[in-house]
Amino acid sequence: MYSRITGTGSYLPEKILTNHDLEKMVETSDEWIRSRTGITQRHIANTDQKASDLALFASQEAIKAANITSKDLDLIIVATTTPDMTFPSTACILQDKLGVDNCPAFDVQAVCSGFVYALATADKFVSSGKCRNALVVGSEIYSKILDWNDRNTCVLFGDGAGAVVLSQSEAPGILSSHLHASGRYKDVLSVSGSIGDGAIQGSPYINMDGGAVFKFAVKVLEDVVREATEENKLQPSDIDWLIPHQANVRIIRSTAQKLGIPLDKVVVTVDKHGNTSAASIPLALDIAVKDGRICKDQLVLLEGVGGGFTWGAVLLRW
Ligand code: UT7
Repeated sequence: MYSRITGTGSYLPEKILTNHDLEKMVETSDEWIRSRTGITQRHIANTDQKASDLALFASQEAIKAANITSKDLDLIIVATTTPDMTFPSTACILQDKLGVDNCPAFDVQAVCSGFVYALATADKFVSSGKCRNALVVGSEIYSKILDWNDRNTCVLFGDGAGAVVLSQSEAPGILSSHLHASGRYKDVLSVSGSIGDGAIQGSPYINMDGGAVFKFAVKVLEDVVREATEENKLQPSDIDWLIPHQANVRIIRSTAQKLGIPLDKVVVTVDKHGNTSAASIPLALDIAVKDGRICKDQLVLLEGVGGGFTWGAVLLRW
């Protein structure tokens, strides 16, 4: 028994914030943002939108594409760092919005690696025969945890959601998943605040040593692709589509170059979406599925890295 992605979906909030808009908010320039990150614009949720709202739109598309109904779901996992509330989980809120009852639903918190962690987890349930159809979602509203006066971070992130349905299959599907974490880097990229004594204790905003994240990301993203391909007796050059976490086009290019993967085999959406954390990989996947780039039987490698640090990859045959 294997698991296979049978449907994808995504959602981007209507409001677009361009680099030129940001020039009016902080001391930055379109030229700096584009040359250092590749980002030209990002989508920003309305103040009344929550992660579960974005997740709902993406999920409905994925469910429709999988040719099932929400009643056929028997597992819901949401990867998010920006949950609707402290509890219940965004997955439980999404379950209710989908009109589903009594299937397990939980959140995964692995920051920008969250979708890879969630997909790897769902694969264990589906391929073991415990579940038939799992909904796996990455949904984020980073605009809520950005200090809009901090040019080091506010230009980098955006909001959005991506979703897949993972179903039982006699043929693969997911070939292998590879998850890692190294908590000793916990202070390099964090939102340190928490709720206590009726108030936020610590900072409610992203704090990041961008240079340190950059170096770490390039190293582990290369390592984890090699790990995934070696385990499957493949070469990085055998991959048809690399779908990396979308944080910075320079990280994406540098990883692809080190692996000898040409850029036309890499799905890039960071220019239009910014960094949407756990949503970036399923968003990029959905776009490449819908525009016909990803075709049946192709080898697809999803890989992510994020706060924690966490990192990982899922290799699959489409
Ligand atoms: O999902 C994981 C989350 N995070 C990441 O993936 C981020 C990874 N890191 C990066 O993408 C890059 O390190 C950044 C885009 C954050 C920064 O790029 P960089 O090429 O590493 O620039 P830098 O940190 O060396 O900064 C260069 C200069 C600094 O000025 P000084 O000290 O040289 O005078 C910054 O103050 O650029 C300045 N700077 C800006 N200037 C204009 C920082 N942010 C901005 C800005 N506009 N928005």
